[in-house]
Amino acid sequence: MTGKSNNQANQTNRTDQTNRTDQTNRTDQTNQCIEGSSPCNSKTGFPMNAKIIDVKDEAANNKRTLFFDKSFENASPGHFCMVWIRGVDEIPLGCSYTNGVTFQVVGPATQALFQLKVGDSVGLRGPLGNPFTLPEKGERVLIVSGGIGAAPLAPLAEKSKDIGASVTTVLGARSESDLIFEERFAETGDVILTTDDGSKGKKGFVTDVLNGLDLTKFDKIYVCGPELMLKFVMKILIDKQAVSKTEFSMERYFKCGIGVCGSCCMDTLGVRVCKDGPVFKAETLTDSEFGKYHRDASGKRVHY
Ligand SMILES: Cc1cc2nc3c(=O)[nH]c(=O)nc-3n(C[C@H](O)[C@H](O)[C@H](O)COP(=O)(O)OP(=O)(O)OC[C@H]3O[C@@H](n4cnc5c(N)ncnc54)[C@H](O)[C@@H]3O)c2cc1C
Ligand code: FES
Repeated sequence: MTGKSNNQANQTNRTDQTNRTDQTNRTDQTNQCIEGSSPCNSKTGFPMNAKIIDVKDEAANNKRTLFFDKSFENASPGHFCMVWIRGVDEIPLGCSYTNGVTFQVVGPATQALFQLKVGDSVGLRGPLGNPFTLPEKGERVLIVSGGIGAAPLAPLAEKSKDIGASVTTVLGARSESDLIFEERFAETGDVILTTDDGSKGKKGFVTDVLNGLDLTKFDKIYVCGPELMLKFVMKILIDKQAVSKTEFSMERYFKCGIGVCGSCCMDTLGVRVCKDGPVFKAETLTDSEFGKYHRDASGKRVHY
């Protein structure tokens, strides 16, 4: 984290000590908004002003959830929203709660978001995009999460459990201090933890765990994380003939977030990740730029 002022630190502590328990009690395991939030369904129009009503640090390493006084009541796991940090940028973030987003600090926009405190506000558009296909009652679900990829997957695990599916999660991160939502996932079923450095759970990558799992035991597989991870997950899915039951949540550079500008298009499919995704059936991605390159803000290819 960078340059957090004393006030902000105090604010965080205050919200930690006072609101956290209430927060946990007021949100159910899935997606419900907390009391006092009003509906926010700004799908295409101007951003709705949303006040921050709670702040929760999720991990030692600059990962935080902001809860808003506006909620995306019709959000389904996998939807995202565009968050406008005034004077800085507007960025896509997954809906980790119907009235919350969880992010890690990587650059100017997320850094500015990290500086905001209770009472500050952002602009919100959403819920946007196509969410995950929900499992049916009795189905066996495997969730594969890398790093901040847990943000859209935690509500999916909770919703799947509510539906009556059995949930197993492979939850990976660089190190213990990068792991988020371990408890949320644990409340939905079995969790296999992995960290690159072995500081918690098995040492290694989520792909090491996947290599050892019998994927025929699962009816649906859902994956979100860095694209290099997705690329290696895809190889295993192909080897184990499990591609057809898998969905990936993808990232590309978003500008409009509503299918108009074309900045998030994927070769050679021509799909817009913001509008046709961000969740895709894995089988639709095999013949595309997926795992090879993406484009930066100027449209230039960036190879993996
Ligand atoms: C559908 C979707 C859902 C996402 N959900 C989450 C989430 O729940 N939590 C989270 O922490 N991050 C999420 N991200 C990534 C998040 O949008 C970027 O981390 C953020 O935009 C970085 O902005 P920055 O100014 O802090 O960093 P920058 O230094 O500007 O960028 C760092 C990197 O972030 C990515 N990025 C920057 N701007 C954008 C943009 N407008 N659109 C897409 N990617 C961008 C690029 O890969 C870039 O190299 C999501 C991205 C997408 C596309
Ligand atoms: S971000 Fe504009 S079309 Fe997807």
